[in-house]
Amino acid sequence: MDEKLYDKILEISLKRSIFIPGAEIYNSVAGFYDYGPIGKLIKNKIENTWRKMFVKKHGFHEIESSTIYPEIVFKASGHAEHFADPIATCKKCKAKHSADKLLAENIGGNYEGVPEEELTKLIKANNIKCSLCKGELTDVAKFALMFQTTYGGDSSNIAYLRPETAQGMFLNFPRVFGTYQNKLPLGIAQIGKAYRNEIAPRRLLIRLREFNQMELEYFFNPEIDKTIEGYEQIKDEKIEIMGADKTNIEKLSVEQAVEKKYITNKIHGYLVFLTKQFYEKMGVKNYRFRQLNDKEKAHYAVGAVDLEVETSFGWTECVSLANRGNYDITSHSNTSKKDLSVFDDRNGKKIVPHVIEPSFGFDRLFWCILESSYRPASDEKKWEWFDLPMFISPYHAAIYPLVKKELLQNMGKTLLEELREKGLDVIYKESGSIGRRYARADEIGVAYCITIDFDSIENKTVTIRFRNDGGQIRVPLDKIYDMVCKFTDNDVRTLEDFEKCPR
Ligand code: GLY
Repeated sequence: MDEKLYDKILEISLKRSIFIPGAEIYNSVAGFYDYGPIGKLIKNKIENTWRKMFVKKHGFHEIESSTIYPEIVFKASGHAEHFADPIATCKKCKAKHSADKLLAENIGGNYEGVPEEELTKLIKANNIKCSLCKGELTDVAKFALMFQTTYGGDSSNIAYLRPETAQGMFLNFPRVFGTYQNKLPLGIAQIGKAYRNEIAPRRLLIRLREFNQMELEYFFNPEIDKTIEGYEQIKDEKIEIMGADKTNIEKLSVEQAVEKKYITNKIHGYLVFLTKQFYEKMGVKNYRFRQLNDKEKAHYAVGAVDLEVETSFGWTECVSLANRGNYDITSHSNTSKKDLSVFDDRNGKKIVPHVIEPSFGFDRLFWCILESSYRPASDEKKWEWFDLPMFISPYHAAIYPLVKKELLQNMGKTLLEELREKGLDVIYKESGSIGRRYARADEIGVAYCITIDFDSIENKTVTIRFRNDGGQIRVPLDKIYDMVCKFTDNDVRTLEDFEKCPR
């Protein structure tokens, strides 16, 4: 683990309110983090970029469903039965450990999906003890991961906080299908909270008990929908992927990965590639895809590919792309006793739609973006900063009058008002040296600094400073809004980028 990087990001995050441990003044409970104002601004922009690429571009539909559902929903979805982690408790200090993770940390390997009895045997055979006090461990048991609650003052009314946003899409499928002319294929997406009562959450934003997901469920008829619009354009693009139970990464085209059955079909392949594009757009480059084996796959999955990122905590699963077959709609039909199959007028048959699901863990992505964009102080820049893609910078611009003079201040404030009115995120600061103000802006990745100087009064122009190289251009005041929007959209980070940016 790169402790230095981890510590530096944590330090800036706390100092600048990017993310903050939940209920910090009460010493916080592990696995809960809040996003402060800077973090929330970045979060909104990441979500909007995902929304553009995964929802709007394809004409899919976004919903917002309940985060609590009655027990029957999760009996149908299989989570009540299957969604559990193996737990081992220390007999001495009573600390709880995830048995599979404890084994991986002590003897290496992957123990996901290994039955409890086998894990118990492995712990004994390898003489593994409590990592906190070296006490002896109990046999491994199943620990249900969903948070339980009840509703309406009746303790028999059991409900759970959702462990994935996905169930909302399955439950709303019949209505949304009807609203959009009963046509397949159909994409329904959701961005929102999910909850998992992790045994021992660690690693900041990587493993949380309350977390954010961005999920798309693509409903299709497997008899007819053999491919998806856009697949032909990307099928020869290369991805790095590891087959299930293989140890080597192969560089394959999307089509080859589908032919080798690492990816279950062309629709799945297209969404894998879109995921790669999204991660690259976010500036995260050290990733790979990995096909899951039968033990690792979730109970609902016919086939699954994860996107893993090499973070300072090691290779970390960040996106799961599963072919859920018709598992969910079939289970909800059976449990609710409502026929959720649909008539597909393209082949005149009633079918239960199948689903491909890209499921993004938002908070892990956020962490990966911070790690990828963190830049230490150097000869060129004497302060730490975040090289965030401009379209996810917390603030589009910081407005700085060069000195505290009324005319400059008034001009700055008028511009601030105008840009905010038009919907941009802008900050204003008039105290401190200009160099110090630039440094403070860079530290949180502000896209552009707009400086008002004495020439601004004379000729109604201001300077725009590019974050990455400190290069500046002089522009008319009335062009600022258009320019900031265009530069942000085109990810203009330096003077050189500006020269290449379409005018
Ligand atoms: N929807 C997939 C997951 O949350 O694991």
